[in-house]
Amino acid sequence: MSQLLEKIDKDNLPRHIAIIMDGNGRWAKEQGQDRLFGHFHGVESVRNIVEGCAELGIEYLTLYAFSTENWDRPEYEVVGLMELLVNTIREEAETLRKNNIRLHVIGDMSLLPDYAKKELGEALQVTKDNTGLNLVMALSYSGRWELLNAVKNIAHDVQEGKLKIEAIDQNTLQKFLCTSNFPDPELMIRTSGEYRISNFLLYQLAYAELYFTHVRWPDFRKENLYEAIVDYQNRERRFGKTSDQLGQEFLRQEVR
Ligand code: IPE
Ligand code: IPE
Ligand code: MG
Repeated sequence: MSQLLEKIDKDNLPRHIAIIMDGNGRWAKEQGQDRLFGHFHGVESVRNIVEGCAELGIEYLTLYAFSTENWDRPEYEVVGLMELLVNTIREEAETLRKNNIRLHVIGDMSLLPDYAKKELGEALQVTKDNTGLNLVMALSYSGRWELLNAVKNIAHDVQEGKLKIEAIDQNTLQKFLCTSNFPDPELMIRTSGEYRISNFLLYQLAYAELYFTHVRWPDFRKENLYEAIVDYQNRERRFGKTSDQLGQEFLRQEVR
């Protein structure tokens, strides 16, 4: 067993890990290859990390695969990426089903080509009864798109008389997000040495621990995931309180 894996405290795992899978293009360019070559190799990392999370018993894994802004990339890259995503989902659906992994998708599906919508719909259907890892693919997703959508839908319900303005609280807003069925991520990982959020889960990451690594996504493997989890477990999550307060709460729990 790997030394890092042994260091992980199984009683203090994040329930939800979110990953910005970045650096495919640079990884390919560094080898004198086309950007699509990098995306192609990124799929192997997805397989490896999904397997790693399932083995650890992580409940939710959200992967940022394509942002709403990524539609503005050169057409050949967008088309290549869509085909890769659709083919991968088609090929992997049965493996996901067998491994008790349930697939979810978040994002603006209206922008996806019809063939992509169809394949995704089938994979969602095939895995819908699974109870293990929830694999959430953020596809054509952005935090601002999601928040705008939520605001419009809330306004609509108010206009229809289904919702009173005074009754709107954080729970209401949460219910209108595409992640309403998932807990917020405790750990967010971004690969490839960029230190930004790039419009990912803007609301949900409020108290997430952020972990950045220079490793490019196509090189990211279980060991790198374990390293991020160990790092996460050494953080003190204060949620606005003081360190002393947390110590006291811990003691009270121990006494009980
Ligand atoms: C991440 O890799 C994959 C997607 C955004 C779809 P990039 O394609 O952004 O690779 P870099 O950041 O240009 O190296
Ligand atoms: C973020 O990566 C989106 C995904 C990984 C899907 P980008 O490569 O698009 O982000 P920026 O442009 O560097 O901020
Ligand atoms: Mg990038």
